[in-house]
Amino acid sequence: MAEAELNLLHRGILWPNLVHSQESLTFAREEFQVRDQDVFIVTYPKSGTTWMQEIIPLVYSNGDPTPVQTIPNWQRVPWLEQKSGKELLESRLSPRLITTHLPYHMMPKSFSTSKAKIVYLTRNPKDALVSSFHYHNMASFLENPGTFEEFIHKFLEGKVMFGSWFDHIKSWWPQKDQVNLLFLTYEEMLQDMHGVLVKLGEFLGKPLSEDVIRTIANHSKFDNMKQNNMSNYSFVPEELMDQKKSNFLRKGIAGDWKSHLTAAQTEHFNSIYAQKMEGLNFPFYKD
Ligand code: A3P
Repeated sequence: MAEAELNLLHRGILWPNLVHSQESLTFAREEFQVRDQDVFIVTYPKSGTTWMQEIIPLVYSNGDPTPVQTIPNWQRVPWLEQKSGKELLESRLSPRLITTHLPYHMMPKSFSTSKAKIVYLTRNPKDALVSSFHYHNMASFLENPGTFEEFIHKFLEGKVMFGSWFDHIKSWWPQKDQVNLLFLTYEEMLQDMHGVLVKLGEFLGKPLSEDVIRTIANHSKFDNMKQNNMSNYSFVPEELMDQKKSNFLRKGIAGDWKSHLTAAQTEHFNSIYAQKMEGLNFPFYKD
């Protein structure tokens, strides 16, 4: 595919053409019928989506690893807005586990009147930026990111796939006090997986025993997930994802941005961050 054809533009946002179409994005918004028992994982890309696609099915299976060891992540928790979303989700029995990168205002119209649950996972945008840069370099279906300096500017301007990190969080954060939304951060998952699993179990109506919590925490550790072929994208052909250039499960740490951004880039990022987030009362990632 030529560089110019890699993305499509829908409602002012760029979407990778390989797995999205105007029809699939319209279907998600206009036609998809949300059910009260649905559970959505909502993320801005590179914020730990795959990690959550491992954990929530394990909560539902009470720690039994069979589903996550036998079903690829994109089938086990399909993306609503992708071309395969309709087929994978419409006839699926409840409770359906669904992934989406949609901003709040693009969620299915039927969502607003449903009791569906949302687990919103965010990550330090500087780490999402770094992760995305490496991902663009290994995935042939994504635009060439240019130099890191160029990519920082594109990211800050929202001229990247799935649009602006700032717009995403600004659309979802005001919903944080809704009873059907659980807001989590990538960093708290790294620091306190036990606490996150207790919260998730309660939120999803699936309280977990200490044994099950230990099992899930162990299974979803970065090094263990890296070995899971149903989650590490090793089944994707090398022409699409060249994991010799960079693994999909790359480093799995917080603060990798410190080894990528210069002092000047950090200062610039922080000043744009302060401008864009002004008035949102969002307590994270200020520096
Ligand atoms: P890095 O590139 O910084 O390593 P997404 O699934 O939204 O695309 O996010 C991918 C990022 O989440 C990658 O970040 C990946 O390594 C990280 N990730 C995936 N599973 C993880 C885990 N079990 N523990 C920590 N980080 C994980």
